[in-house]
Amino acid sequence: MRILKTLEELRSWRRTLRDPLGFIPTMGYLHKGHLSLVRHAQQECASTLVSIFVNPTQFSPNEDFSRYPSDIKRDLKLLAPLGVNGVWIPEVQEIYPAGFQTTVHVTRLTQPLEGRVRPGHFDGVATVITKLFHAATPQRAYFGQKDAQQVLAMRQMSRDLNFPVDIIACPTVREPDGLALSSRNSYLARDQRAVAGILHRSLVAAKISYENGERRAGALRKTMLRILAEEPSARPDYVSIANVATLEELEAVNEEALFSLAVRIGSTRLIDNFLLERGVWQTGRIAGAPTVAQEVYALNY
Ligand code: PAJ
Repeated sequence: MRILKTLEELRSWRRTLRDPLGFIPTMGYLHKGHLSLVRHAQQECASTLVSIFVNPTQFSPNEDFSRYPSDIKRDLKLLAPLGVNGVWIPEVQEIYPAGFQTTVHVTRLTQPLEGRVRPGHFDGVATVITKLFHAATPQRAYFGQKDAQQVLAMRQMSRDLNFPVDIIACPTVREPDGLALSSRNSYLARDQRAVAGILHRSLVAAKISYENGERRAGALRKTMLRILAEEPSARPDYVSIANVATLEELEAVNEEALFSLAVRIGSTRLIDNFLLERGVWQTGRIAGAPTVAQEVYALNY
């Protein structure tokens, strides 16, 4: 596993790799969600590259950039046994040298949901991903369904700007209580962690209501909010049932919808979603080797 720092190092190493290259961009503090992206890439690609870069431009001034968790040693220990070919860990000055003044902006898809609450966030993501793609020249890039809007925005960008990169979405990996794995979960105190399963329960309730025949998006959103209200310390930013292509809010759900929510627990902001595609739910799965009980749970939730 090659550890790469500078752009120059990355570029000359890239020339030695077999194609297709699968690329997994991350901000580090890796967990089983990130590692599942690596495994997906390895199944489909001759070579794999992980980047670890806490991208300052995707954090708003009031967000958690300076306290974003980091442990590169631990990250490398997790990656080494997987057999990735390289890990690129650039410095901020390498990605954003003095005088940097260019932004990539995906217009419509970045407006609702996360875009409304985190202005500028997706400009930061689109700009850094553009830079990482240009540097690494992968054929495929792997993203988590947990950040559904990010996947859609990256697909749009890739299409609009003719990047020769396929954007692959991988299922959300979850804790046994359904909480989607996230580097930010490490901020949660024990009592807050106990509450955090409420996001998943809220999505499950909406899914069950849909399966029982409810098609009115308003009623389904209310169900999500009703569950969230069971935990007064969980403060919703939004609950949404949106068109899977445009992210516009729906009035009625047929076979396709993105059910998503953002919730604050203390000062930690968590997001999650279930995706309904052609009548089939993409809800993610419990991390690790599932026990029988987890399999049954995974089938039922
Ligand atoms: P980060 O939050 O580190 O996530 C890196 C990738 O892991 C993203 O594609 C994210 O969707 C995926 N991921 C996170 N939690 C997951 C889970 N529980 N199951 C499956 N996949 C999961 O997302 C970013 O970094 C940044 O915005 C980045 C794309 C690297 C640009 O800076």
